[in-house]
Amino acid sequence: MTTSTLNDILGKALAKPKALSQEEIACLLSARDEASLFAIFKAAYSLKRRYLGNKTAFRGLLEISNQCGKDCLYCGIRRSNAAAVRYRMPPDEIFQRALEAKDAGYNSLVIQSGELAREEFARYVDYVLELLMPLEMGITLSLGEQNLETLARWHALGASRYLLRIETSSPLLYSSIHPPGHSWEKRKEVLSFLRMAGYQVGSGVMCALPGQTLRDLANDILFFGDEDLDMIGMGPYIPHKDTPLADRDTGFTNRERLDLGLKMIAAARLYLHDVNIASSTALEALDKSGRELGILAGANVIMPNITPHSLKEKYSLYEGKPVSGDDIASTIPRLQSRLRQIGEELLLCGRGDSLHYKNRTNRKQA
Ligand code: 5AD
Repeated sequence: MTTSTLNDILGKALAKPKALSQEEIACLLSARDEASLFAIFKAAYSLKRRYLGNKTAFRGLLEISNQCGKDCLYCGIRRSNAAAVRYRMPPDEIFQRALEAKDAGYNSLVIQSGELAREEFARYVDYVLELLMPLEMGITLSLGEQNLETLARWHALGASRYLLRIETSSPLLYSSIHPPGHSWEKRKEVLSFLRMAGYQVGSGVMCALPGQTLRDLANDILFFGDEDLDMIGMGPYIPHKDTPLADRDTGFTNRERLDLGLKMIAAARLYLHDVNIASSTALEALDKSGRELGILAGANVIMPNITPHSLKEKYSLYEGKPVSGDDIASTIPRLQSRLRQIGEELLLCGRGDSLHYKNRTNRKQA
């Protein structure tokens, strides 16, 4: 790619959202030399500043259970992984942890777990949400595919955001990283349920998957626009030794995984402009400064893990997932000082709702 081609693409992307073609996005994702990467990240970060200022939103991530009914071929907590030690946090422990987070200055939580599509699990979550309601924190759920009725009930119980990664926008690639019975179409349908139930809708993909092409990844970015998503969470695939996919060579070094993860963040910002984009934990697993690099590539949300230390290592989605620290109160000053070094501040007031969601709901009312 010549410098003038790159400058043309970036100029177009900066002028308005959804301006790029599949070829142009793939072209951005193919960049490898330092100068091109620098120009791409700089343009994406300038858009982040334009829409969201120098504020980084943050949410405490609580991994409430690693029990899972799914068998995704890449995931360390898949049903068939007998080596995973299973747990489910009792609701009162979740409440205690949330209270500590609130006292420390967290205004929002992400409640994540393996996927169980059964009524008993739905009732457990009902109870957790009822306990959390008086804390008046922003609640994001990330609990996998659920039916519309359950999703609507959780929304009525105070959950306002939901994350469900589509994992890849290619049904063919999806079927190569999941066992039979896992359906891409079903997962996509659940994204529409989330919309119907009134959530701010988040989705995303993994990159650096075996067999994935730059064209697949460019289509992922277009998919986010077609789905009119409010929030994006993406990260590089990192093999886990106790999973079937670990045997498949991806052809990526860790450095290449990191760069691709950062390029995907930048491409999403350049294409979508006003969405919330998370700087994922997987980036941090690949580089100590991965989170900051994600922000500088256009992300605006970080999710410090506030799961109790004794459980963190049991929620092992991939190898090298960070498990540091147990003290919630110290996380915020530490984050502040790291972010200040890159000219960013934590967004301490409000819940950090998606600007895209506000824009699309205002449009509807107008
Ligand atoms: N590497 C990176 N991300 C993974 N996830 C699951 N397993 C892995 C892995 N091996 C991601 C999936 C899932 C999210 C909770 O974690 O994208 O949606």
